[in-house]
Amino acid sequence: VKIGVFDSGIGGLNVLSELVGLVPDAHYVYLGDSANVPYGGRPAEQIRELSQKNFARLKGEGIDLAVVACNSVSIHALEVIQRELGNTPVVGMVEPAVSLATQVYEGSRAPGEPDGPLLILGTQATIRSGTYGDRFRAHFPATRVLEQACPLFVPFIELGQLRGPALDEAVRACLQDIALEPVGLALLACTHYAWIRESIERALPGWVVVDPSRAAALAARTLAWQIRGSQATEGGRPSRIDWIFTAPEKVPDFARAAMKAMDSKLE
Ligand code: DGL
Repeated sequence: VKIGVFDSGIGGLNVLSELVGLVPDAHYVYLGDSANVPYGGRPAEQIRELSQKNFARLKGEGIDLAVVACNSVSIHALEVIQRELGNTPVVGMVEPAVSLATQVYEGSRAPGEPDGPLLILGTQATIRSGTYGDRFRAHFPATRVLEQACPLFVPFIELGQLRGPALDEAVRACLQDIALEPVGLALLACTHYAWIRESIERALPGWVVVDPSRAAALAARTLAWQIRGSQATEGGRPSRIDWIFTAPEKVPDFARAAMKAMDSKLE
């Protein structure tokens, strides 16, 4: 199977690295739109336009399966992408993230005790949509659901700053009001945020932090297996990852190191 994985930048590497572990015998094409990252502050219409362009490119690569490893794009452009790709199956972040967070939240509630809040951390585009908030409020009507946009996080990550006092201060400032709430569950509803999970955990002591990267990869694996089952012969496609960045010079060193580690997993 040939699997296309897309993100605005390097957030999707967190999903890809899980997927490479789950489905090592596949041909991957990772496309990161590093020329246009961040998407999260853009209006929905722009996110759709950029997504269509990028998925047209992935379609040209002849992919059998598309993984939208970006929450902002999954929320605002899934239909545009599906239209672009025709019958090629598409996996987004929202369904896997909602089911994982729902399960973990249900499992972490102590009987007889008041429930802590359910917090969604994401880009402005994700939070503005209210998609996650609506889903959780419908499922847990008695739970306090909080939604927080964190527009400074992605630039730090794309610039290669995964730790240090400046990042910690930005994270703390963004989450300081939430840190006053009783502890609860925080969903990382932006694929970039897994890169700075430690900083987020420090700003929200005691909170259960949920990263849906693996859940999305598991959903993709199910489809990859189905596709492989329906392909008469595999044709001896080598396991490999083709890396495409719209501005390769912007990819930070830590991401290059992660890419190299994935490459060597498939060798
Ligand atoms: N990684 C993307 C997400 O999951 C957003 C990053 C960006 O703002 O471009 O929402």
